[in-house]
Amino acid sequence: MSNQNGSLARLDSLMHSKFVVRDLYGRPVKDLRISVTDRCNFRCTYCMPLDEYEWIDKREILTFEEIARLARLFIRLGVEKIRLTGGEPLVRRDIESLVVKLSPLDGLKDLCLTTNGSLLAEKASALKAAGLRRINVSLDTLDPDKFRRMTKRGDLSKVIEGLFAAKSHGFDPIKINAVVERGVNDDDVIDLVDFCRENGFAARFIEYMDVGNSNNWTSEKLVPKKEILEKINKRFALREVGRENGSAPAVDYEFADGRGEVGIVASVTEPFCSTCNRARLTADGKLVTCLFSSVGHDLKSLLRNGSTDEEISRFITGVWARRKDRYSAERLEALLSSSYDPRQHKKIEMITLGG
Ligand SMILES: C[S@@+](CC[C@H](N)C(=O)[O-])C[C@H]1O[C@@H](n2cnc3c(N)ncnc32)[C@H](O)[C@@H]1O
Ligand code: SF4
Repeated sequence: MSNQNGSLARLDSLMHSKFVVRDLYGRPVKDLRISVTDRCNFRCTYCMPLDEYEWIDKREILTFEEIARLARLFIRLGVEKIRLTGGEPLVRRDIESLVVKLSPLDGLKDLCLTTNGSLLAEKASALKAAGLRRINVSLDTLDPDKFRRMTKRGDLSKVIEGLFAAKSHGFDPIKINAVVERGVNDDDVIDLVDFCRENGFAARFIEYMDVGNSNNWTSEKLVPKKEILEKINKRFALREVGRENGSAPAVDYEFADGRGEVGIVASVTEPFCSTCNRARLTADGKLVTCLFSSVGHDLKSLLRNGSTDEEISRFITGVWARRKDRYSAERLEALLSSSYDPRQHKKIEMITLGG
């Protein structure tokens, strides 16, 4: 009898053990970014400035049950961290009920959400009650007029209100993401750092990237990490901490006076493709293996044609095992040899694939 119990326990542990799939460069899949909608109430000039866009048909958008099922399968394949994003995730109705489904998933170590903050004041309480613990809010300037110009529709006061609502509900950490664009908001870096230090937020600056095709990116608009760092370091001495878990997109720095930290994401000038363990799921159920991909792999059809968990897992494993993306590394090589033309590479818009 005890022998039989032992075999059953072994079988059970085998069924629940993780098979960590690796791609062609040996990179595991650890981080899943789920776009819950391609809709957005802003039109940020660096992301998706177009008024007209071919939105995903509502019937094609994954239900929360479908998303949760895929999340569970990804976790079995090695995913430990999930970020909800979009488009603007808070425009998806009842987003908190997705958080309720995801937050207790066995094996999930970290669940977070990236938002433009415009609806955060309304949603912070429900999100916290649903099990979300931390949040990233995009905020590129503290100047209301510039904010309106950069987002084309946004109201800065709503975002600030959302940030403080999140703080009062105990979200921790609250990170502020700012994309730095030359000639637009490179003069806002210190104000943003000050604001974060004063209020206990973590600042995170992101090099302007050539995501999608509609933002008309050029390398002249890029402010390299080195320059952002020098600007901050001149005002507040910094000490490098490094990348969280060795593979996070941001390199973290702490202020020498102990008052907080700042991260810089340098996808263009210091690509981190060699450790990239991020998969993306679009709102219509496509698995995308790189932020700069032009194609996705259809999981929605499998979900909706009665495929079993094993069949779906096998499909995901096959896609990941063939993965060889290193777009940012190739872009840097091309930029250095002056042969890079972003228009030659058609990419999925960030608003569709999830930033
Ligand atoms: C696509 S948004 C989606 C989530 C949410 N709407 C928001 O703005 O936070 C995710 C992140 O991508 C960043 N992002 C968008 N376009 C970018 C670009 N061209 N270069 C660098 N980061 C970009 C945004 O600033 C934001 O922090
Ligand atoms: S998805 Fe986020 S970054 Fe893109 S336009 Fe909307 S708010 Fe701006």
